Amino acid sequence: LSLTLLMMGVAYLFGSLSSAVLICRLYGLPDPRTAGSQNPGATNVYRIGGRVPALLVLVMDILKGTIPVYASYFMAIEPVYLGLIAIAACLGHIFPLYFGFIGGKAVATAFGAMLPIGLDLAGLLVLSWIVTVFLVGYSSLGAIVAVSLAPIFTWLIKPLYTVPVAMLSLLIILRHKQNITRLLQGTESKIWDKGKIKE
Ligand code: G3P
Repeated sequence: LSLTLLMMGVAYLFGSLSSAVLICRLYGLPDPRTAGSQNPGATNVYRIGGRVPALLVLVMDILKGTIPVYASYFMAIEPVYLGLIAIAACLGHIFPLYFGFIGGKAVATAFGAMLPIGLDLAGLLVLSWIVTVFLVGYSSLGAIVAVSLAPIFTWLIKPLYTVPVAMLSLLIILRHKQNITRLLQGTESKIWDKGKIKE
């Protein structure tokens, strides 16, 4: 258990590195916490700065989940505890220690944390996101659909991880409260509406 707690601390510190803020600073872009949808994540960096910075943010945010969870997996930590470590990484992203506790929605970090479960799960999640975004245009809805399906996919692929994945999914859905309100009001911005944010 002490190893789990230690790795939760490590994961939280990893998650706290706000790649969106760092990459925007590097590219001389506005702070993603105050521009666009005001969310420090790859989607909003895409709105503010386009493909390359967004891709860098996406990769870094994914690794924040993958590295601590994969390392813990090799330490033979049990699935449910791996779930807690994944949640700690996401909580770091959501409430980052070094960035005034103003963080993002942890979609990429949660995806990264689920990656060690298998490429089949990862592929299904990416596909769910792509199909949703292609059909309706909302990155947030793509994330909500993908994480909602994640426990079902996991149950079919590696049942042992269903509970930890479900915990993670719940956290991500709760974090999309504002997006859900905007989706219901019809004011959510589409991924191709670059720069045009309806509030
Ligand atoms: O990945 C975050 C996404 O689900 C929503 O981002 O900027 O549209 O609120 P945003």
